[in-house]
Amino acid sequence: MKLNHTEYKQRNISIWNEVAPRYHKRWASVNQGPFASTSKLVQLLDIQKDDSVFDLACGTGVVTKKISQKIDKSGFVIGGDTSVTAIKIAKKWNSSKSNLDFVNVDAENFYFSKKFDIITCQYALFFFPNAQKALRNMKKNLKKGGKIGITVHGASKKVPFFSSIFDAVTEFIPDYVPPGSPDLDRFGTKSSLKNEVKKGGFSKISVKNFVFNFNPGSFEVYWRNYLRYVAKPLKKKLDTLNREERKELKNLIKENVKPYTKKNKTIEFPWEVLILTAQN
Ligand SMILES: C[S@@+](CC[C@H](N)C(=O)[O-])C[C@H]1O[C@@H](n2cnc3c(N)ncnc32)[C@H](O)[C@@H]1O
Repeated sequence: MKLNHTEYKQRNISIWNEVAPRYHKRWASVNQGPFASTSKLVQLLDIQKDDSVFDLACGTGVVTKKISQKIDKSGFVIGGDTSVTAIKIAKKWNSSKSNLDFVNVDAENFYFSKKFDIITCQYALFFFPNAQKALRNMKKNLKKGGKIGITVHGASKKVPFFSSIFDAVTEFIPDYVPPGSPDLDRFGTKSSLKNEVKKGGFSKISVKNFVFNFNPGSFEVYWRNYLRYVAKPLKKKLDTLNREERKELKNLIKENVKPYTKKNKTIEFPWEVLILTAQN
């Protein structure tokens, strides 16, 4: 079955509703590995105390929280996401303030009556099946001269934490990600990200790359945690493999991880992140 955009989004919503609590606990709330980017993003945008900011696809509110610490009562920040579970966590985790709010919105279809000074979007642009629609929407909701800040993961080879498992799994299960899903790697280079944002009508585009290190422990811990945290629809696909195939898969992943395995048997992955800033 080939997913259309609506089906893909529905699937994504249910996946994020399922994984949001563990995503928050394991990644977002603890500033692990690639989440060192949150501070960089906020820093690059030079947020002022009275700025109005929209944090698109805010998830559990990690960027929103950092922004709320930069502004005072003369500014405000709103986080928006399609996952109700993520929004619930974001509300609970951020202390309640009159100039901070969270709403349930789709990136391709949101509208606010007041335009923002800044719109941020961390680790989500690649999830929007129609990224151009989302970018045009950001532009519509931004003041003239307003800024956007977009963070994405680098291309798959630059993020071996993902590719070591994903490349191996797709050899065994070609439809691990359902056909019709957007390519999550499509903005993983400076030029592809820049071109997409330029097409969306933005100017003064700058893309910086950062490489963070992430240590997921030993190979056994890395693989065990993957199986423990993976979303249910993917787990279901993995469960179709027989014992022999599972063993072969594990060995293949172990091979992929070898270049990043240190003498003490722990893994250290480099993790490339691209941060784009641009102006309306
Ligand atoms: C990797 S998380 C990033 C969350 C947050 N920005 C952060 O840095 O922790 C991706 C988020 O994108 C959200 N998302 C995916 N598609 C979306 C859409 N079409 N509109 C709004 N949010 C979306 C998901 O629900 C999820 O919370």
